Amino acid sequence: MSDAQWRASLRESTEQNAGGEPFSHEAWNDFEPIIHYQPGDIENTEDFESLRRRLHELEAGEHVPRVYYLATAPRFYTPAVTALGNLNMASEENGPRRIVIEKPFGTDFDTAHLLNKHIHTVFNESQVYRIDHYLGKESVQNILALRFANTIFEPVWNRRYIDHVQITVAEELPVGRRGNYYDSAGVLRDMFQNHLLQLLMVTAMEAPVRFNADAVRNEKVKVLDAIRPLTTSQVTDASVRGQYLGYLEEPGVRPGSNTATFGAIRLEVDNWRWQGVPFYLRSGKAMSCRTTQIVIGFRQPPLELFACDNSQSQREANRLVIQIQPAEGIQLHFHTKVPGDGMRLRLTDLEFSYSREFSGRLPEAYEPLLLDCMTGDASLFARSDEVEKAWGIIDPFVQSWSSDTTPSIPTYPQGNWGPAVSDTWMRTQGRSWFDLCPVLK
Ligand code: BG6
Repeated sequence: MSDAQWRASLRESTEQNAGGEPFSHEAWNDFEPIIHYQPGDIENTEDFESLRRRLHELEAGEHVPRVYYLATAPRFYTPAVTALGNLNMASEENGPRRIVIEKPFGTDFDTAHLLNKHIHTVFNESQVYRIDHYLGKESVQNILALRFANTIFEPVWNRRYIDHVQITVAEELPVGRRGNYYDSAGVLRDMFQNHLLQLLMVTAMEAPVRFNADAVRNEKVKVLDAIRPLTTSQVTDASVRGQYLGYLEEPGVRPGSNTATFGAIRLEVDNWRWQGVPFYLRSGKAMSCRTTQIVIGFRQPPLELFACDNSQSQREANRLVIQIQPAEGIQLHFHTKVPGDGMRLRLTDLEFSYSREFSGRLPEAYEPLLLDCMTGDASLFARSDEVEKAWGIIDPFVQSWSSDTTPSIPTYPQGNWGPAVSDTWMRTQGRSWFDLCPVLK
């Protein structure tokens, strides 16, 4: 493409996807001249040489930050970094140089470690931005605000009051056209190593001493350090998996594939705050609805003063439901006396909803993240030790699931909350999933 063709195509897609905001032709006309297009083959050093020359011309000796965003297939991360290194394009003599790496960052601990090592031969860690778009979601960042800008939650945010935590990322869509990639990744690599563990970290971390990249990431990494390592047989008890019916017919999926499209795992965080409080992580494709939620399940009161009605052996405990998407918001579930005779109770809630509280659209997760990268704030990006430790936690599950060919993987009909075995597994632990599709208002 020429610069003009590229600008025209960006204008068109920006107009179409301006997110409900009016498209300003005036603003676009100001912005457009600084967009350029430089074609190249990532595996061809000469093309990097041309890119370097072009950037030099455009920057005209000014100190401007450069962000190299590798929005590419993962197999190109290494050659791209090598080429940038060979041409001295990571040197910060003429302004900051940063590199954004997409997920998947490796496919296990060893490959992630090697990739980190290679990147560090060219870029310092402070120049590396490993992106996980979940951290850019407003409602995920709001967990930090909820926990650390308020005093009322902190006293109950621990093993004394919390029975367990459920983190669910359910997707309604099946794998679709991504069968080829997905079949080798599976739900553990695609969702757990990154998004679900990130949600766990922000839920479980201690308050950082200040809000900057190192302080925040130090606290997050401590959570990963505290997660109890599991042996292969413990992994079997601590997880269930499933595959939706019809997955084997998706294009790109190997015949007879055992890849899990659904998974649920139990992790224990062995520290003073969380000892004995299981964290249940669950995710799947082709589930009942699209919902990402963190449910803080509180303990029962020490004494049951009011009789339950016949249908319940035990009253439902209090819950704090953090609805990450869609219908972003927070609900606190608690019991209230039903007006009238006797002490009949009902679960009611207090609710905060983004759409009621704030007008306008929520920014797409990539918007704040890329802006942070341009301004040099890495708080919401994963550090090298963080990705490696996250793989260290997920690898045993991947190994156990992939070596287990008998019995064959449990299946579930599309549009369900996973295989039946997932509910049974929770019940045997005396708990149940909070399965509710969010109500969009
Ligand atoms: C991606 C996964 O990282 O996250 C996809 O590769 C998944 O499989 C997607 O669908 C979910 O993101 P979101 O923002 O739609 O919840």
